[in-house]
Amino acid sequence: MSVTVRPVTSAVGAEILGVDLRKLSDQDFNTIEQAWYAHSMILLRGQQLSDDDLLAFSRRFGELDPPPNQERGRISPPGYPDIYVVSNVLDKKGEPIGALGAGEAVWHTDMSYLDTPPDASMLFSLEIPPSGGNTWFCGMQAACDALPADLKKKIEGRRIKHDGTYNSGGYLRKGVTPTDDPMAAPGAWHPAILRHPANGRATLYLGRRRNSYVEGYAREESDAVLEALWAHVTQPQFVYEHHWKLGDLVMWDNRSTMHRRDPFNGEARRVMHRTQIKGTSRPIAFAA
Ligand code: OGA
Ligand code: MN
Repeated sequence: MSVTVRPVTSAVGAEILGVDLRKLSDQDFNTIEQAWYAHSMILLRGQQLSDDDLLAFSRRFGELDPPPNQERGRISPPGYPDIYVVSNVLDKKGEPIGALGAGEAVWHTDMSYLDTPPDASMLFSLEIPPSGGNTWFCGMQAACDALPADLKKKIEGRRIKHDGTYNSGGYLRKGVTPTDDPMAAPGAWHPAILRHPANGRATLYLGRRRNSYVEGYAREESDAVLEALWAHVTQPQFVYEHHWKLGDLVMWDNRSTMHRRDPFNGEARRVMHRTQIKGTSRPIAFAA
């Protein structure tokens, strides 16, 4: 059976068909890697992966990154510190087995509050609710190419501060002091427009809206620029909505996509196992 790559939208994402990730040849891996660079998000359905299989596939892309610090710290399945659990399910003591609960997870890119964020993250679906909990992806290279000239001018050559206080579920990260002041918040500065190291394309790098700040402006001006940027990138032509099935593996490039998750009924169960690929370099500015 040969591998087929089928784009899911023109801005972001491709489905890869005809592959069993447990038995992946170097040639097929190469096709997958190229598709990932070309489409920034890849989707493989009908996979049957143990945690060891998930780790083995993840490691073909590079060294793994430790999980993010979430509302309850770093939660992993016993014996698998490189896997991070996204789930609303409660254990016997009534504590969540994973992060992000059942609420909305707002638009974000993963762990951009670090100086060197992970290049990629992937989610594998183990349990899904009957409805809700869809994950949306936004193509930040297409959004960058379509940026109105006046808006582009406002961010060219500037950096953005990325907040490390709250995660995308709105939860305070473990051990962090709450604040709504971007300057007081822990975080990292990154260029607003990045050059993607693999394909050289310009990509907008926004991170999260909350506690974000554009360098060189008063807070109100920065907020106005950010509102315009966020309204631009989340337009339907840049976005793909993923309806999960069991056995879906989705991997995204954190430099050239953002994602968000719809809320779902908290009585239902949703369990995802995630890995993240260590960043190979700090995000670098796109010099036109
Ligand atoms: C993540 C994330 C969203 C989801 O794992 O980084 O944002 O749909 N997950 O579970
Ligand atoms: Mn995320």
